Amino acid sequence: MKQKIAVLTGAGVSAESGIGTFRDSNGLWEQYRVEDVASIEGWRRNPGLVLDFYNARRRQLKTVKPNNAHRAIAELEEKYHVTVVTQNVDNLHERAGSTNVIHLHGELTKVRPVDCCNENDGFSEKQVFDIGYDEIHIGDLAPDGSQLRPHIVWFGEAVPKIEKAIDIVEAADIILIVGTSLQVYPAAGLYRYAKADAPIFIIDPKDVNVHDPNLTHIKDVATEGMASFRKLLSEREKNFE
Ligand code: OAD
Repeated sequence: MKQKIAVLTGAGVSAESGIGTFRDSNGLWEQYRVEDVASIEGWRRNPGLVLDFYNARRRQLKTVKPNNAHRAIAELEEKYHVTVVTQNVDNLHERAGSTNVIHLHGELTKVRPVDCCNENDGFSEKQVFDIGYDEIHIGDLAPDGSQLRPHIVWFGEAVPKIEKAIDIVEAADIILIVGTSLQVYPAAGLYRYAKADAPIFIIDPKDVNVHDPNLTHIKDVATEGMASFRKLLSEREKNFE
C-alpha cells in the first residue's frame, strides 16, 4: 500500500516558470484591482475587462513551461499515492506529469456558459469545455446561447471542490504545501484537516504563519525546496524500512 501525500500548491510553485504571484511585490494584485477582475461583482460590472484579464493570462500560459518543482511533485507518484490540490488556474502540474490534480479555483483553459448555474450551487462539469489558449470575447456564446465565461472561481463565489479537497487532506499520511500565502479561504484552512500524526511540510521562501507541532518549514523557493523535501522523504523512508 502506497502512502498518501496531499500536495497543496499556490502561485509560488509556478513563480520560477515565470508566472508572477498575486501578493508578492510586483504581483498581479499590484497591477490590477482584484475586485475588478476576479470577483463576481466585477464580472457583473464589466465583463469585457474580466475577459481581457483572463485572455492575457491564457496568452501568458501558452508561453511558459513547468519547472523542476512541478516535475518533482509529479515524480512523487513513483512511490506515493499523490493528489495535488492547487489554487492555481494554470495547467503546469498536468503538463509536468501529475495525474491527479484538483483545481480549487478553476482552470484557465476551460470555459462555461454564464447561465449554466447559480454561482453558489456549483456547476455541471458537462457544461464546462476546453478552449486551450484561445481568447473569449463578449458575444462568444455557448451552445445554450448564453455568454461564455472563464471557468474560474471568483471572489464572492462558492468553491465547489472544497469538500473533495477536505477528504483528500483527511486521508493523507503526509501534507506538503508549496508556494501559497495561505490568505484565501477556504483553501487556506485545508491543512487543518490533516490527521494528528501527519507531518506537514511547507516550502516557501518567506516566513509562514502556521503554528503546528508537526510543521517543517523549508524556507526556500519551490525548485530548491522540492529537492530538500525529497531528501527528507528518503530519510523518512529509511526509518520505515
Ligand atoms: P500569493 O501570491 O498570495 O502567495 C504566493 C506565495 O508564494 C507567497 O507565500 C510567496 O512567499 C511564495 N513564493 C514566491 N515565490 C516563490 C517561489 N519561487 N517558490 C515558492 N514559493 C514562492 O498566491 P496564492 O497563495 O496562490 O485566487 O493566492 C491564493 C489565491 O489568491 C489565488 O488562487 C487567487 C488569488 O487571489 C483567485 O483569484 C480566486
